[in-house]
Amino acid sequence: MKIAVIGTGYVGLVTGTCFAETGNDVVCVDIDTTKVQKLSNGQITIYEPGLEKLFLRNLKEERLRFTTDLEDGIKEAQIIFLALPTPPGEDGSADLKYILGVSDQLGKILKDYKVIVDKSTVPVGTAEKVHAAIKKNCKGEFDVVSNPEFLREGVAVDDFMKPDRVVIGTSSDRARKIMNDLYLPFVRQGNPIIFMDERSAELTKYAANSFLATKITFMNEVAQLCERLGADVDMVRRGIGSDERIGKRFLFPGIGYGGSCFPKDVQALVKSSQEVSYDFRILNAVMDVNEKQKLHLMPKVKKYFKDNLKGKHFALWGLAFKPNTDDIREAPALYMIDALLKEGATVAVFDPEAMNNVKQLIGDKVTYSESQYDALENADALIIATEWNEFRTPNFLKIVTSLKNKVIFDGRNLFDIAAIRELGFYYESIGRAPANPTK
Ligand code: UDX
Repeated sequence: MKIAVIGTGYVGLVTGTCFAETGNDVVCVDIDTTKVQKLSNGQITIYEPGLEKLFLRNLKEERLRFTTDLEDGIKEAQIIFLALPTPPGEDGSADLKYILGVSDQLGKILKDYKVIVDKSTVPVGTAEKVHAAIKKNCKGEFDVVSNPEFLREGVAVDDFMKPDRVVIGTSSDRARKIMNDLYLPFVRQGNPIIFMDERSAELTKYAANSFLATKITFMNEVAQLCERLGADVDMVRRGIGSDERIGKRFLFPGIGYGGSCFPKDVQALVKSSQEVSYDFRILNAVMDVNEKQKLHLMPKVKKYFKDNLKGKHFALWGLAFKPNTDDIREAPALYMIDALLKEGATVAVFDPEAMNNVKQLIGDKVTYSESQYDALENADALIIATEWNEFRTPNFLKIVTSLKNKVIFDGRNLFDIAAIRELGFYYESIGRAPANPTK
């Protein structure tokens, strides 16, 4: 099939590359000339494991190309994906200016029948708005379909190639058939393509992300309770997660969820609810708890250092909002850094992928270390904010030699309490009793 993808951000690039990988001809369109030049020259613009190999192969085999020219980009396409940003506006609702702007332009240039697909996360009713914006100027035939993405950063290629489900919102039989043909190669293992109306598809995306954010937040609150009641959240997690109705995944407590999706989508769903006079109370609580959870380690750090962090120096491992990405949007690490600096402490940071992004954001407010061990030099304690694999079984001898005190505050529960107790560390984590608390 011939496909155009408008917008070469995270979702657009993964979508375009993966459709090319299954043999489709894909043209990606973006207004950013530098980006298009880079991509055309084989320089990938995002970090996503496994993507570069597919990107280069499909570029070489000419199933994937990039252009800034919208008209040229969509000329041959049967299906046009809109993978454009929907940033939160000042009031928290998703801003549709990019989507509707492109829809308006499309209306002026569409000639023959095309399926226009909303891939971006958009509020309920957007498909109708896109339809109206195109229709305004358009003489040709077209259908608008809602097809939300459920990609996780870090495993996006896998999520795209082997989705748990594909959700397609359309009321047109013609569009339904085309979308079904397009996605069949991705669901060979038997996972469903679920067809529904446009509004239900749009809401599905928000409901999925908000539910997951709620699940994590629920566990974060259980962790709070564990600390106060002397229970161990790891045990409680396993105890409840083995009930199939609850499920094992997304039950890991930590210093809050971050990233580009959960915070934005929960906020947008609250806003959409308000617009139809519904108070989505549970989501207000989720947002509130998560804000506080990002700083959950701070009272523990302050208590250990007797409420005086002035002149103290901390090593911070992990800046990305989660492992296997360089994305620092809403990353709990940034909240920790801010709080530590405000208390008069200094911070040396290390992250395998996200250091450049942090440098661009906060410059020399912190020191950037060459390795996870360099960050420890002369630090009063180690703080862990992201569960990168390389932090899971570190060389504890090196940690002991470099740190001034054997003290670790772990926001991601990486270490076994008994083992770390044995090593003699004062260790605080989330929802578990501290190790060697009398130190
Ligand atoms: C999420 C959705 O999973 C994906 O379907 C959607 O398309 C985009 O948003 P992503 O933001 O990439 O994907 O990350 P995800 O792996 O879902 O993690 C989100 C946040 O939750 C991270 O901050 C992570 O650290 C946190 N998390 C996740 C927990 O704190 N505990 C868990 O058990 C799982």
